[in-house]
Amino acid sequence: MSAPARIAVLASGRGSNLQCLLDGIATGQLDARIAGVFSDKPAAAALDKVAPELRWARPPRDFANREAFDTALGDAVAACAPDWIVCAGYMRILGAGFVQRFAGRLVNIHPSLLPLHKGLHTHARALEAGDAEHGASVHFVVPELDAGTVIAQARVPVLAGDSSDTLAARVLAVEHPLLLATVRLLIEGRVAERDGTVLLDGQSLFNPLRLDSAGTLHR
Ligand code: GAR
Repeated sequence: MSAPARIAVLASGRGSNLQCLLDGIATGQLDARIAGVFSDKPAAAALDKVAPELRWARPPRDFANREAFDTALGDAVAACAPDWIVCAGYMRILGAGFVQRFAGRLVNIHPSLLPLHKGLHTHARALEAGDAEHGASVHFVVPELDAGTVIAQARVPVLAGDSSDTLAARVLAVEHPLLLATVRLLIEGRVAERDGTVLLDGQSLFNPLRLDSAGTLHR
């Protein structure tokens, strides 16, 4: 049997997506271990979810510029020898140097149906746009913000009377099974990216995988 996959998680906030990975590991759904949690916010609740020796947190203001911060972050991430790096609520833009250093094993969960609503305030923007559906995407990270190839998505309806908070809660509830199922495919070595196309079991995906209500991903 091969060793459990090593996952580094980048997080800036509450850490519910990290918790879902920890729960997946604890229940045997993910053959992995969290090799480190990395944050630009030393007070992030996400950090408290792992043992102190697995935490790295430095405020960007301690560094001369973005590149210096990214280099320190990248060195710390590399030191935990991760197979995969998962941005789970990491709210700081990663520079091209960092992205290139970990290209092909760096993914992000974003709360919209990309390519719709890149960036911030996605729930309010989905409401403003009158979208009938909203959701979340897991994608490979490229230097351009939220523009990498999408691996998998989960969709939710937008309901009459939704506020951005009610919509955010409905999306968050599907983010967790989406992230778990997608990371599982990644660590099983079933997903790769080639020239802007996602390969599943060696075959090109023309559309992102879709999460069903049982938490399973489908073509
Ligand atoms: C999640 O909704 C995630 O999709 C979003 O931040 C939240 C983090 O929640 N990420 C982004 O907006 C990235 N641009 P969590 O800290 O409870 O996992």
